[in-house]
Amino acid sequence: MSTLNISRGAQFSKIMGIGGYRPRRVVDNAEIITYIDSSDEWIRTRSGITERRWASEDETVSMMSQAAARKAMDRAGVEPGQIDTVIVATVTHLHQTPAIATTIASELGARNAAAFDISAACAGFCYALAMADSFIRTGASKHVLIIGVERLSDLTDKHDRSTAFIFADGAGAAVVGPSDTPAVGPVVWGSDGDQADLIAQTESWPTAMDPDAHEDGKPHWPMLRMNGNPVFKWASFTMAKTAAEAMDAAGVKPEDLEVFVPHQANNRITDAMFKALKLPSDVVIGRDIIHHGNTSAASIPLAIETLLESGQARSGQTCLIIGFGAGLVYAGQVILLP
Ligand SMILES: CC(C)(COP(=O)(O)OP(=O)(O)OC[C@H]1O[C@@H](n2cnc3c(N)ncnc32)[C@H](O)[C@@H]1OP(=O)(O)O)[C@@H](O)C(=O)NCCC(=O)NCCS
Repeated sequence: MSTLNISRGAQFSKIMGIGGYRPRRVVDNAEIITYIDSSDEWIRTRSGITERRWASEDETVSMMSQAAARKAMDRAGVEPGQIDTVIVATVTHLHQTPAIATTIASELGARNAAAFDISAACAGFCYALAMADSFIRTGASKHVLIIGVERLSDLTDKHDRSTAFIFADGAGAAVVGPSDTPAVGPVVWGSDGDQADLIAQTESWPTAMDPDAHEDGKPHWPMLRMNGNPVFKWASFTMAKTAAEAMDAAGVKPEDLEVFVPHQANNRITDAMFKALKLPSDVVIGRDIIHHGNTSAASIPLAIETLLESGQARSGQTCLIIGFGAGLVYAGQVILLP
């Protein structure tokens, strides 16, 4: 029996560059309250959101992804031809097959790259980063383009009080490549399918499109529904523990942390996690939700880009990221910022 060769990769990986795309159309709370019984004050105080972006027709999942990816590759100094793997995290590419990652790879010029989509909702970026880190260290890949992208407005019922003000659109991308020193800590991740109903599409596509399945005899577009309060409690308490485990796994103490970028679900969840983690008061916190709402898989890279572009955070700083959402799913890591 012969012994097989196995691949061996770089000892470490790092995020080499990050880029984002934010849709042109700004939707403020004044517009939202024309759709739902609410107020600007309620939305600001309960969620932190003042405005969000909704994609126009031409701002497709592919278009937004490519725009974010080009920025990330430019900043990483990596040519499209060097990208050998493309992972797209999204729950709003509305074609069952093929994956949008293959089109994105081709159109960017990452020809022949391995390319696939993953569905891990608001934890999608952290799931994709965990995979990229592993692929690079095993030698399966050298430069991985990871993209978190959503057009949540396609699946949001703008007349639903529990979701209309929260969900938004955008794309964030990162190039992950080999590193001489550790820059992506161990992932702490998991799921809880017992709570799958808390954030879910109302119906499967076949049922939604079947006129006979509905009292009004018409097909219905299947929207997202969320039972916000239990999600809020789960995110505020259970996810703080997961974030603490990610810091422990990386050997980083709260006083060593410089930047904290949780999934942008609700400013009050961010505050609760910050308090539970006992982070120092000078830790820089991602607050992208204020102007961009909850963009699911795109929210963490977009928030990181905002902090880096504004100078609030710097390359090389130690940053805790944690994504959590529909599934329920979650994943967190400590990274060094690109
Ligand atoms: C959605 C969310 C902001 C609602 O905040 P909340 O504090 O949990 O609010 P509740 O659902 O308990 O409702 C509180 C009150 O506000 C009212 N309310 C609910 N939605 C409202 C709205 N859009 N505008 C005004 N009032 C609203 C409720 O009717 C309720 O009124 P009552 O006290 O008179 O019964 C919050 O639950 C949340 O952010 N959840 C998690 C979101 C999240 O993380 N999602 C995704 C992970 S991807």
